[in-house]
Amino acid sequence: MLSQINLFLLPILLIGLAIIQAEENASLTQKLTVTLPSGDRMPVIGFGTYRLRGDSKVKQALDNALGVGYRLFDTAEVYENEESIGKALKELLPKHNLTRKDIFITSKVASRPESSGANSYESLRHSLTRLDTSYVDLYLIHSPEYFSHSVANGNFNFSKIRDETWKQLAKAQKDGLTRNIGVSNFHINHLAELLSNDHGVKPAVNQVQWNPEHHRDNLLEFCRSHNIALQAYFSLGGDRNKINLLENAVVKKVAEKLGKTPGQVLLRWAVQQNVLVIPKSLNRVHMIENLDLNFKISDEDMKNLSNLQNS
Ligand SMILES: NC(=O)c1ccc[n+]([C@@H]2O[C@H](COP(=O)([O-])OP(=O)(O)OC[C@H]3O[C@@H](n4cnc5c(N)ncnc54)[C@H](OP(=O)(O)O)[C@@H]3O)[C@@H](O)[C@H]2O)c1
Repeated sequence: MLSQINLFLLPILLIGLAIIQAEENASLTQKLTVTLPSGDRMPVIGFGTYRLRGDSKVKQALDNALGVGYRLFDTAEVYENEESIGKALKELLPKHNLTRKDIFITSKVASRPESSGANSYESLRHSLTRLDTSYVDLYLIHSPEYFSHSVANGNFNFSKIRDETWKQLAKAQKDGLTRNIGVSNFHINHLAELLSNDHGVKPAVNQVQWNPEHHRDNLLEFCRSHNIALQAYFSLGGDRNKINLLENAVVKKVAEKLGKTPGQVLLRWAVQQNVLVIPKSLNRVHMIENLDLNFKISDEDMKNLSNLQNS
């Protein structure tokens, strides 16, 4: 009878043990940080919040994310969730025995006429009000040019707009509204232009799309050589394209070989190149998995994965 019960309970116990082991491993990688030029430490693995909206949905996701160990939250003016994030953190930080300084908040100025250029400083102040905080840890220019829907009738000098936006962000950093500033979706030419007239502050981070099917190795090289941290979005392909990557035969084969999931392989592929990641998940098991990246992909499999871009 006893052995029958044991046999019945064994799979449940094993699943329980696997989750505990994953949580222990996750707590190792959760502590990984990079040091930015300001001296601030930025978590290598953060939590994305694109398309995560509504007070209760945001609160539930952040509660789980904080509980399993995420300390970096990536938002943006255009995600329309800053206010929900602000409310959720107000309640959740004390619940998890944390304070504002224990977490790292990134937001982004929207690349559209009413938000960027001369309006950028004010945009950040609005974000701070919505987030209910006196500073963000990182504030990014969301895109080097206006989002396509903002430019229907326009003929804009984006080089001038980027320069004005950066000037405003540099001032905001000096005034303490943000601890670090950076960019997103910038190519080498945009970065080179910014570095040639940086208003006294170099970009700390460039956040770009980065996964085995979409990566630009010369951009990574450029960022490394200028001490700019590269941070990946769509590491898993995003809500819309995740099936292509998570179901890819090469990704699955590497995952099977290592006893990891396809999601972990995709994230580890980035982190192993010193690229930071901000996966988004509403699923607590995925959240834990995505923090558990303490393993190594062989050089050969790193190449096989990187080559997916050419296939
Ligand atoms: N700077 C920019 O222009 C820009 C653009 C886009 C996004 N971003 C930022 O980057 C973050 C990440 O991008 P994203 O959220 O679009 O896409 P993503 O993180 O690549 O993918 C999210 C999707 O993957 C699923 N997922 C997560 N972990 C998984 C796992 N271990 N196994 C299987 N499926 C998993 C999630 O579903 P479940 O909920 O079921 O886990 C969700 O549908 C965003 O949230 C945002 O903060 C920035």
